[in-house]
Amino acid sequence: MSTKMEEKQHIGQLFDRIAGTYDGLNHGLSLNIDRLWRRKTVALMQPAKHVLDVAIGTADLTIEMFRQHKAEQVTGIDLSDQMMAIGQKKISNLQYPISNVQFVHANAQAMPFEDASFDAVTCAFGCRNFSNLDEGLREMYRVLKPGGQVTILEFSYPSNRLVRACYDIYFTRVLPLIGRIVSRDKTAYTYLNKSVKSFCWGEAFVQHLHDAGFSSENFIPLTFGIATIYTAQK
Ligand SMILES: C[S@@+](CC[C@H](N)C(=O)[O-])C[C@H]1O[C@@H](n2cnc3c(N)ncnc32)[C@H](O)[C@@H]1O
Repeated sequence: MSTKMEEKQHIGQLFDRIAGTYDGLNHGLSLNIDRLWRRKTVALMQPAKHVLDVAIGTADLTIEMFRQHKAEQVTGIDLSDQMMAIGQKKISNLQYPISNVQFVHANAQAMPFEDASFDAVTCAFGCRNFSNLDEGLREMYRVLKPGGQVTILEFSYPSNRLVRACYDIYFTRVLPLIGRIVSRDKTAYTYLNKSVKSFCWGEAFVQHLHDAGFSSENFIPLTFGIATIYTAQK
């Protein structure tokens, strides 16, 4: 099996394993700040007809798009069927009806869509998991219509030294321990910490967007830079 195929299976399986506890841990471990981050991300989106939500997971960003009337139709892709199954269930249990969300099992780095298929592309906490970030960003650019906007929410690393020290303790000690106990998965939340620390953020991430072809790139650090929203145009 090729390394790429193994990586793809590995990440899908990792999220399949933690899917049942993902939302609760996300909201609990971030003290619900992740909800505010998604809200702000969607607020920065231009309203669009058909949005591609890359790494849709349990669909929190997609649900927020409909809540804020930013999308008429969403196609979500992900490598984890379990994460998407939970997303689908959440959507069907909503008090307000949303019928126009399609979930597709697909790799962000090789999307099964024609060029220029979508009016906007979003991705929340997905890019960090790609085995090749540039491939994922190039695919986002390819499937986006000219003039369309990409909006990405991702963890980043705080610049303030004090915040950084607290962040390090939280991400290397507290979060893996609670994650391991609640999700009963030994590796998943250690992986989260490693994936955040080894990932790029701020100007460095913007450079990747630029290299993929995007222009008018912008970024907004959130909560001392623990997460960052990136926007850019095709
Ligand atoms: C941390 S979750 C984020 C889910 C959701 N967007 C959210 O805001 O909660 C990351 C998701 O990315 C998916 N993922 C990772 N690599 C992927 C890839 N190459 N293609 C598609 N989905 C991928 C995982 O399966 C997982 O559901």
